[in-house]
Amino acid sequence: MKAAVYFETKLGRIYNGDSLDLMRERFADASVDLIMTSPPFGLVRKKSYGNVQSEEYVAWFKQFGHEFKRILKDNGSLVIDIGGAWMPGQPTRSLYQYELLIMLCKEIGFHLAQEFFWWNPARLPTPAEWVTVRRVRCKDAINCLWWLSPTPWPKASNRRVLAAYSDSMHQLLRNGYNPKLRPSGHDISDKFGINNGGSIPPNLLAFPNTESNSHYLKYCTEYQLTPHPARFPSALPEFFIRMLTNKGDFVFDPFGGSCVTGETAERMARKWACCDLDEGYVKGAKGRFLRSQADIGSTRGAKAETYSVPNPLTEPCDDSEELSVDGGKVRAAKRKAIGNGLHTPRIASPMRGDEDLRRRKALPTEQMRLLEEPMKYKAKRK
Ligand SMILES: C[S@@+](CC[C@H](N)C(=O)[O-])C[C@H]1O[C@@H](n2cnc3c(N)ncnc32)[C@H](O)[C@@H]1O
Repeated sequence: MKAAVYFETKLGRIYNGDSLDLMRERFADASVDLIMTSPPFGLVRKKSYGNVQSEEYVAWFKQFGHEFKRILKDNGSLVIDIGGAWMPGQPTRSLYQYELLIMLCKEIGFHLAQEFFWWNPARLPTPAEWVTVRRVRCKDAINCLWWLSPTPWPKASNRRVLAAYSDSMHQLLRNGYNPKLRPSGHDISDKFGINNGGSIPPNLLAFPNTESNSHYLKYCTEYQLTPHPARFPSALPEFFIRMLTNKGDFVFDPFGGSCVTGETAERMARKWACCDLDEGYVKGAKGRFLRSQADIGSTRGAKAETYSVPNPLTEPCDDSEELSVDGGKVRAAKRKAIGNGLHTPRIASPMRGDEDLRRRKALPTEQMRLLEEPMKYKAKRK
């Protein structure tokens, strides 16, 4: 389906149609600063937004990859948000997102500037069969983000994405630091005590995806449109738009869905284009811009929150029961739950001293939150 302009703002355009045709017909060589996108994932179970099966995925993507390379400026970037997939009927993972990455680098000539991981702290424990029923895998809570570039030198600055300093860093900046050798062997110089405005973030991005009250959703309800089922939080495009583009640069999302990238780019004074095959999705996307310029992008997907990654070694480990030798191939008989998750009964463990038990008292808030997230989710779905 040929892509046509569906809606236009001062800075950008929503196209409806096939983005491959759009790029071939309308995009000049070396004209784009950032392609920020979340393509349909090669999920094993097809979702309602038209996924191509895993095996064909890489071949399908290749044609897009060639166009991406052609339209990007030499110092531009391609950022692909891509989730993993489970093999049908067994607790093993597809390699498709890694095969995609290798194809883009080895066959098309992209450079891997850096891999990022998007951790969604509110992700439910799926797939239930392996995670909550047979208990043989852990919760799958990250997406890969491949940051690629046509040359090894994409323009970028981590100064645009600084995280707030921790309390201990503030203390250190106030009280000074004694340069010394750390236990790791690193020699921390006196430069460590300089305030650089914030800390350099790791390549693990913690953004929840729990938008529930946005202008976009209200618009969809009002006009009886189905909201896009696989939206990413605006924090994701915001991070890369900040780090990799300047005001006035051009940002493109070829698998634009509900146009989160476009709305974020508009708010950040970048030019942009989003394209989606599905007319229903672009109808909803248009709603993002039907309000005052000052309000666009004001409903942000993620609050500025800091998340701590739970330490999986704080609870006692009861390994008196042996692991099942078949690796969970057969469903085991149901086990009785241990407590309600908030008040874990004390299990005698030779590893656990009083100090450990004292530290555990700090846990309930975190546990409450982890338990509440799925409950909130269920309540909303009713
Ligand atoms: C994972 S979704 C993107 C969601 C988007 N990031 C958001 O937050 O709303 C992928 C989208 O790619 C679209 N799509 C698939 N093939 C396409 C193509 N050839 N041209 C344009 N859009 C396409 C699908 O309709 C789907 O909406």
